[in-house]
Amino acid sequence: MKITKIKKPSYGPEFFGLTENGEEVLIPFTAIGEVWDVKPLKGKVYKPIKPVKLNERDRRNPPCDYFPLCFNCQWMHLKPQTQTAYKVKLFEELLGFKPERVLTSPSELSYRVRVFLYHGEGKLGFRKSWIFNPSRPLLEIDGCPLLPESLNQRLTSLREFKFPGNLWGVELLLNPQSGEIFTKLLFLKGGFNFTTAVSLAKEIPTDGVGIYVGEYRHWEKIQVLGKWETKITLKGYTYRFSPDCFLQPNYLLWEEFLNLVKPLESHEKALELHAGIGFFTLPLSEWTSEMETSDLNCESSRYRNLNLKENKITNVKSLCLDALKHAKRVKKLDLLIVDPPRGGLIKPLVQTILERKPEEIIYISCNLLSLKRDLEELKRFYRVESSALVDQFPNTYHTESVVWLKLKI
Ligand SMILES: C[S@@+](CC[C@H](N)C(=O)[O-])C[C@H]1O[C@@H](n2cnc3c(N)ncnc32)[C@H](O)[C@@H]1O
Repeated sequence: MKITKIKKPSYGPEFFGLTENGEEVLIPFTAIGEVWDVKPLKGKVYKPIKPVKLNERDRRNPPCDYFPLCFNCQWMHLKPQTQTAYKVKLFEELLGFKPERVLTSPSELSYRVRVFLYHGEGKLGFRKSWIFNPSRPLLEIDGCPLLPESLNQRLTSLREFKFPGNLWGVELLLNPQSGEIFTKLLFLKGGFNFTTAVSLAKEIPTDGVGIYVGEYRHWEKIQVLGKWETKITLKGYTYRFSPDCFLQPNYLLWEEFLNLVKPLESHEKALELHAGIGFFTLPLSEWTSEMETSDLNCESSRYRNLNLKENKITNVKSLCLDALKHAKRVKKLDLLIVDPPRGGLIKPLVQTILERKPEEIIYISCNLLSLKRDLEELKRFYRVESSALVDQFPNTYHTESVVWLKLKI
């Protein structure tokens, strides 16, 4: 056991602490200024065992019985305003400047439109935190407070089913405007039986059910029962999409997020990479004479194209293409918008951007660490003009950010 003082959050589930003999360690479920008796877990990670001093100002009773066993929420023991303050602190420390604007979610709960549940040992739920059990067994859940009521009701009804052993997981997606719910059933290849899967899918009470076969991260859709497309309206634009497309997870912040992401000025030629279904594309089209957009997901790109047509937007070209390939193709470029997955931009893409030298870049990021790494490179030729923190994942350490960059003269 070691007495440890908690110093600051890390961009991860743990907080940095300093032991009595000056060793830097990582401890989950704590708060700045606290002192804990901790015991070693793995590497630099220690488990908090007994509090010596608690930071009651920043703490609260977590509004979920599964915390901290379920690792999907890592900061639920902190008050919502403390969580945001910690994120602002992390943003400033990692990026070296304060966010100019901070958008907070209108509610810390009931905000997620999508949920993934693992299936195994006849149970449906989340995985237990490795801190409590390294093999991460399944934690059966009755509901999750981050989900709207209708998704929780569906989740409860799914627990009544007797699923086959080779069902790997179930994903649910809610359209909060229409109330429609879509279910993806992910079956492992071994022992897959089409007839059994279809009769199971027919029993599931959602607007559409998709049957997928494959293995971790590689799933092939082989049958859909019911609807597999839905529509939302935001800022007067209509967006169609299918459950196979990326959708910003916190629907309570959709409109505000859209209002935030606009260029500092109008431009001639724009390029938007990682454009998805066109979430930002449609309003961004008002700011440029011509715009090219792409995404590696061809389903999202097909919907983006459809959304552009349905909204009568004629100055935007839509492609299904890898971001690097697209950036290499484009010759003249004034405005660039990127919104990559957690890994951020790959090195050759950053290099290509630095060669193309657009006047303005809007970098939307869901990972402060990859954003920090990419900004360090981009700042060789760009200065940060503005920035925002979008706290769209309350109760987790995950942080969404937007940074506006201008080419140095
Ligand atoms: C965080 S999402 C953003 C999507 C969109 N901007 C939105 O707000 O809905 C990241 C997107 O990057 C796409 N993507 C992932 N790897 C890519 C790559 N190598 N090239 C292009 N797009 C990629 C994904 O398909 C996904 O749609």
